[in-house]
Amino acid sequence: MAEWQSSAAVSLLLLLLSAFIPPAASEAAGGLLRWASTLHNLPQSNISTWPRAAANGSPCNFVGVSCSAAGDVVRLNLTNSGLNGTLQAFPFSSLPNLTHLELSVNLLTGSIPPEIGLLANLVDLDFSLNQLSGRIPPEIGRLANLQVLHIVENRLTGAIPDEIGRLESITELALYENRLTGPIPSSIGNLTKLARLYLYSNELSGPIPPEIGHLSTALTELFIDTNQLSGPIPASFGNLTKLTTFFIFDNNLSGAIPDEIGNLESLQYLSLHTNNLSGSIPPSLTRLNSLILLHLYSNRLSGPIPPGIGNLDSLADLELSDNRLTGTVPASIGNLQNLEILFLRVNNLSGSIPDSITNLTKLTVLQLDTNNFTGDLPDTLCGGIQNLTVHSNNFSGSVPTSFKNCTTFIRVRLEDNQFTGNISEDFGIYPNLQYLDLSRNNFHGEVSPSKWVSCPNLATLRISGNRVTGEIPGPIGNHPKLQALDLSSNQLVGQIPLELANLTSLVKLQLSGNQLSGPIPLEIRSLTKLDSLQLASNRCIGRGGYGTVYRATLPSGIIVAVKKLNCSDDSSEDDESHKEFLREVEALTEIRHRNIVKLYGFCSQSNHSFLVYEYLDRGSLASVLSQDNSGARELDWGKRLNIVRAKVADFGTAKLLSSDSSNWTTQAGTRGYIAPELAYTMRVTEKCDVYSFGVVALEVIRGSHPGELVLSLASSTEEEAAAAVVSLDDLLDRRLARPVPGFRQELENVVRIAALCLNVDPQFRPEMRLVCEMLSKGHKRKVTRGRQ
Ligand SMILES: *[C@@H]1O[C@H](CO)[C@@H](O)[C@H](O)[C@H]1NC(C)=O
Ligand SMILES: *[C@@H]1O[C@H](CO)[C@@H](O)[C@H](O)[C@H]1NC(C)=O
Ligand SMILES: *[C@@H]1O[C@H](CO)[C@@H](O)[C@H](O)[C@H]1NC(C)=O
Ligand SMILES: *[C@@H]1O[C@H](CO)[C@@H](O)[C@H](O)[C@H]1NC(C)=O
Ligand SMILES: *[C@@H]1O[C@H](CO)[C@@H](O)[C@H](O)[C@H]1NC(C)=O
Ligand SMILES: *[C@@H]1O[C@H](CO)[C@@H](O)[C@H](O)[C@H]1NC(C)=O
Ligand SMILES: *[C@@H]1O[C@H](CO)[C@@H](O)[C@H](O)[C@H]1NC(C)=O
Ligand SMILES: *[C@@H]1O[C@H](CO)[C@@H](O)[C@H](O)[C@H]1NC(C)=O
Ligand SMILES: *[C@@H]1O[C@H](CO)[C@@H](O)[C@H](O)[C@H]1NC(C)=O
Ligand SMILES: *[C@@H]1O[C@H](CO)[C@@H](O)[C@H](O)[C@H]1NC(C)=O
Ligand SMILES: *[C@@H]1O[C@H](CO)[C@@H](O)[C@H](O)[C@H]1NC(C)=O
Ligand SMILES: *[C@@H]1O[C@H](CO)[C@@H](O)[C@H](O)[C@H]1NC(C)=O
Repeated sequence: MAEWQSSAAVSLLLLLLSAFIPPAASEAAGGLLRWASTLHNLPQSNISTWPRAAANGSPCNFVGVSCSAAGDVVRLNLTNSGLNGTLQAFPFSSLPNLTHLELSVNLLTGSIPPEIGLLANLVDLDFSLNQLSGRIPPEIGRLANLQVLHIVENRLTGAIPDEIGRLESITELALYENRLTGPIPSSIGNLTKLARLYLYSNELSGPIPPEIGHLSTALTELFIDTNQLSGPIPASFGNLTKLTTFFIFDNNLSGAIPDEIGNLESLQYLSLHTNNLSGSIPPSLTRLNSLILLHLYSNRLSGPIPPGIGNLDSLADLELSDNRLTGTVPASIGNLQNLEILFLRVNNLSGSIPDSITNLTKLTVLQLDTNNFTGDLPDTLCGGIQNLTVHSNNFSGSVPTSFKNCTTFIRVRLEDNQFTGNISEDFGIYPNLQYLDLSRNNFHGEVSPSKWVSCPNLATLRISGNRVTGEIPGPIGNHPKLQALDLSSNQLVGQIPLELANLTSLVKLQLSGNQLSGPIPLEIRSLTKLDSLQLASNRCIGRGGYGTVYRATLPSGIIVAVKKLNCSDDSSEDDESHKEFLREVEALTEIRHRNIVKLYGFCSQSNHSFLVYEYLDRGSLASVLSQDNSGARELDWGKRLNIVRAKVADFGTAKLLSSDSSNWTTQAGTRGYIAPELAYTMRVTEKCDVYSFGVVALEVIRGSHPGELVLSLASSTEEEAAAAVVSLDDLLDRRLARPVPGFRQELENVVRIAALCLNVDPQFRPEMRLVCEMLSKGHKRKVTRGRQ
């Protein structure tokens, strides 16, 4: 292979060639070898055998080369041949008889040389799936015999040259997935033999040239979607009576759909979605009875669905969603026997759904949601429906009796309607069900352990806001895939079943607004993915966000911190403390990060309420921090930042308990975490907790009690607090390496927040809730930035 690296060797080869081979052939062979020698990685490419072949005779023996009987190179097919390099040295002038040039699926870079125009006999040109860049040379217009031009999936830029309109023999023109800009040249309207035009996924702009409407004799497929084309759909397009596929979706087209579209009698696939088209759907469109796919969604179409829609009896996919359509669904829709997909969602449609829709036995997806539909759903609606969304309408009555047997259901959304009925009697067992939302209707009855509670694929079950009664059945725990369970705002009673702990995929559990009682099973802790746990309002309300914190050892040996909230006899205070209590629970349960949420649950009785938190023995934290270098280093910046956040959960109290204490105030007071005002008021407020949190936060990042530093930070204004950040290095534990920039920013954030918490005047300290928010925002930034 070494000979390939040497241009001297190539020259020698060329000399030999010219001695033994006819001049035209030797020129072609020489040209090809010279080009080959400019390619990188040549030894690894399929043409590495060319030199040996050349030594034996003409280029006709080269891999990929085909010759005519007369010995002219007529075809070069090097598809997927590992070619790495440019076309600059390609021997265009030496291959005058070439009819096929196929270089797709290689690693060709650089631009297409203007000499391409010399290949006057070329019929088929394919440079697809390379990395060619630059403009398409206008000289390409000289290829008067070219029938097929494919340069798809490259990096071509600039405008399509007007000269493209001179390719008078062209039948197929494909330039999709490049970066072409500018308008579609109107000269394309001259290409009377053009049958297939593929210009999609570029950055073409400007109006669609009406001249394309002249291509009436041959054009069958027109793909100009996914560009930035604007202006109207030209009325002249009505001349394209051979057109079977017309895709212009994902552009900025405006104006009405022209009536003339009804002349496109061969049309099977029409997709105009995601434009700014307005006006009504032209009734003429219902003449297109070969249509299989009609996508008009995501436009600004208004007016009714044409009553004659039922004429389109080949339709399999009808999508009119996300427009401003009004009126009712025409009864003729029942004629669309081949319909598999019907999307009418997000419009202003009203009235009831015609019974004829139950004729559509091939239907798999029906989306009617977010309209103003009323009445019952047709009683036999099912067919083979997999996905049914009718939510956010005004449907009423009971669900179709056919639902009991609709085993094809995968995703069913009935929420936000006025459906009635018994949830355990009116539904069936759905082996494929993944998503069921019945929220905010008038359903009653019990959550039956034998119904969808036995759907092995269930990932989301929402029955919130109904009148569901009875207990939560234990078998609900048998759903290894369940991620979201929302039974909130019903009339459920009894205990939270232990079995919920088996829902290992659970991320969101909402049980608030019921009459559940009994303890919160601590087993729920094993749900490591749980990000949101809502149990409020069931579940006497305590005296605000402050109270006494106890360390409790459960029979199982697990230690938790229990905060007892005192009830007031004064009813005027009740209201305020009720709000505070809810706020605290809300703050803890709504925050979506498990390093922050360490509330296991709460329990509220007529005289007392309790919050149950994770317990972290302060003694162990303090001893780790005070250890010599190795212990302290193990607690790296990441871990320390997490401790600061976890601390928020118990509002700076529970974790301060020493192992034998049941009274935080006493402990804190003796250890120098006590807020200054406590000395004269003796009233423990939430703001005292905020202060203590500030001290502990500093302690964690400093590795020791901040001592005097507290005094200097405590008087800080916000500006001073910001200035204090400059001296961050003075605050950081010197036993650890300096933090990387990401952590540094986090630590600055913590110091800034801690300084606010240490303000001497309690009224200027932020509420704990705000502290939570500030910390969690800082954390989210870190997660986003640091995702690896
Ligand atoms: C193509 O050649 C260039 C230049 O030698 C080289 O850097 C690159 O890795 C090659 N590409 C492949 C996929 O071999
Ligand atoms: C070109 O060659 C490839 C691989 O050898 C082959 O699959 C392909 O059919 C050829 N193309 C034409 C148009 O003959
Ligand atoms: C050409 O090279 C490619 C790799 O670039 C290889 O997959 C293919 O099999 C080769 N074809 C021939 C005909 O040698
Ligand atoms: C090849 O092209 C040359 C130059 O255009 C022409 O003279 C010659 O007749 C062609 N050969 C064939 C077999 O068409
Ligand atoms: C091709 O199209 C352009 C623009 O539409 C027009 O000006 C020109 O006369 C046409 N050329 C031929 C040969 O038809
Ligand atoms: C094309 O359509 C326009 C407008 O509908 C019409 O006036 C014209 O005669 C048609 N041209 C051809 C070639 O059919
Ligand atoms: C229902 O389908 C049958 C054919 O199976 C058809 O004759 C009838 O007209 C359709 N009904 C409606 C209301 O569309
Ligand atoms: C929905 O329809 C009802 C009558 O059925 C009408 O009173 C109401 O205004 C409509 N709402 C909207 C948003 O169109
Ligand atoms: C139905 O919904 C499921 C879950 O979202 C989805 O995976 C599936 O593709 C949908 N089925 C159809 C036919 O659209
Ligand atoms: C439910 O489906 C089964 C099997 O397809 C059928 O035998 C049964 O009659 C259906 N029951 C109802 C109530 O439609
Ligand atoms: C949880 O699942 C395990 C095994 O899957 C089972 O042994 C256990 O009984 C289940 N626990 C509950 C409370 O259902
Ligand atoms: C906690 O300590 C405070 C202040 O020393 C004291 O007033 C209070 O009675 C103690 N509470 C308990 C439950 O020991």
